Amino acid sequence: MCGIVGYAGSGNAPQILVEALKRLEYRGYDSSGIALHEKNGLTIHKKQGRITVMEEALPKLAATVGIGHTRWATHGEPSDANAHPQVDSSGDIAVIHNGTLENYADLRSGMEAAGIKFNSGTDTEVLPHLIERHYDGDLLTAVRTALGDVTGAYAIAVLHAAHPGEIVAARNESPLVIGFGEGEHFIASDAPAIVKYTQRVAYVRNGELVCLTADSVEISDMAGNIREPEIEELDWSFEDSERGGYAHYMLKEIFEQPRALQESLLPTLAEAIIDGLDLNWRIGSISIVACGTSLHAGMVGKYVIEQLTAIPVNVCHASEFRYSPPVQNVGGMLSARPLVVLISQSGETADTLAAARVARQQGSHTVAICNVGGSSLARNVDGILLTHAGPEIGVAATKTFLVQMQALYMLAVHLAYSRKGIDLPQLRRWEQELRKLPHYVGQVLERRSVITKLANSLTQASSLFFIGRNLGYPIALEGALKLKEISYLHAEGYPAGELKHGPLALLSPQTPVIAIASQDHTHAKLVSNMEEVAARKAPLLVVAQEGDADALRLSERVITLPASDPVLMPFTAGVALQLLAYHVAEELGCDIDKPRNLAKSVTVE
Ligand code: AGP
Repeated sequence: MCGIVGYAGSGNAPQILVEALKRLEYRGYDSSGIALHEKNGLTIHKKQGRITVMEEALPKLAATVGIGHTRWATHGEPSDANAHPQVDSSGDIAVIHNGTLENYADLRSGMEAAGIKFNSGTDTEVLPHLIERHYDGDLLTAVRTALGDVTGAYAIAVLHAAHPGEIVAARNESPLVIGFGEGEHFIASDAPAIVKYTQRVAYVRNGELVCLTADSVEISDMAGNIREPEIEELDWSFEDSERGGYAHYMLKEIFEQPRALQESLLPTLAEAIIDGLDLNWRIGSISIVACGTSLHAGMVGKYVIEQLTAIPVNVCHASEFRYSPPVQNVGGMLSARPLVVLISQSGETADTLAAARVARQQGSHTVAICNVGGSSLARNVDGILLTHAGPEIGVAATKTFLVQMQALYMLAVHLAYSRKGIDLPQLRRWEQELRKLPHYVGQVLERRSVITKLANSLTQASSLFFIGRNLGYPIALEGALKLKEISYLHAEGYPAGELKHGPLALLSPQTPVIAIASQDHTHAKLVSNMEEVAARKAPLLVVAQEGDADALRLSERVITLPASDPVLMPFTAGVALQLLAYHVAEELGCDIDKPRNLAKSVTVE
């Protein structure tokens, strides 16, 4: 998704903006640009392609105030003309935008009928023209009035040639954070962009505008009411978001998992574990709502919560949940308010945010499992269970997946204990098992060289299937997602029992099958499914726990996981499949941290 940054201070604005934009590369983009306040007005520099393409074309510039943008095309193809900033007719107003404007087509045709010429295919270009129309010497007021004319999602930043030193920014749905330095201020879509310069940040809320100079920050709403910024200190640093010697952020983040699990584990699960909401009420049902990898964590959570608490859990794609029919309380049949658990590493995923809103409107209690404390999701739910994986830059979610599952296990154990489904000794045993996770994950990481070799044997596949049963099924889905997003190989995750209901027709020596063999009550059934695969001469790779004789009998290609309680297998198998996907993609020479067409935070619907 697009990234926006802004700087007002005494430093070299072009350098700072380019550096900050590079920190947002993980969001995905196809072009970049900056606008600077210079002696004779605004200068705009923008190019399709990588940030370095724009950077190399930059002349030596000494500006101290400017805005910068990485564009992820939604309206109009990737091109120099469609890159941001977009400007008004005079070139005095420059706007950068993350989000989509729903009524831009009507606005644009009205303006074109009035003789205004448009130079891009973007929805954004209506904004500088609207601001120009409303400008009467006061930039903040002009921006506020212009935003009254648009509907949709946005985080924007605006420069006006007649207001040197000033940046006006605003947000509705798309994220925006302010950074507070010494004699300098920043804005950005995400804190990693500015953490090199400051760890003191404040989050802009929906419907707010910010007027920023080197010395001042003023936050106001659409009615003009002023709000004091609530400054927070980030608990991670620039070094935390650096690659630290690894070839890719993804690999670094895979290796950070033992620490992420350790930092995210709560000392005890006997007392309240959700910040802001007690769970001491009769929970009739739980819905877990998320997208992508977070959804797969939710599917693992469902098994564990239902096993431990007997509370029925359904898992929904956020994009479906947000449009599901409202819950009807027919004849008072809903005797207890449902609990909706929303999972998102970023806390900025548009569908998950909309789902949270719908859940609250429907009268559900909402809890977020989220890795970003000040995120939109964290601030729009009743309670929060924060994970502490640190910043995740690689587009492929890795460490946040593991801590999300850990959070769901903690929730399950806490709910079970507080409802007297398990007693104190059982609770302590669970706590002990969860404390072993970093150790088990560390053992999988030590087996990287074996996984690398096996990965090399998969690169020529025409398609791959990942199969599993019970807790192995969501891990099969996650393994397939990870592989396809970073290696571009086609892969599908399937419940192993479903193979013979269709996909078996596709098996051949060119379609490897990766089986996740949990040592649980479904193991014997999975062995039968593996036999079916072997009989069709499809190459079989098994992810199995130490001592699994069936796995060794059926395949020479086995990734051995440390022997742990089978309920912890999603963690160890999950890491093995992350490494497998990583090494396939590496062998194929893919752009692992920034896969084509994808964005880290999906902030549009
Ligand atoms: C994961 O590898 C994906 N890039 C993607 O599926 C991601 O998990 C999804 O977009 C949800 O993101 P969130 O957790 O930030 O809401």
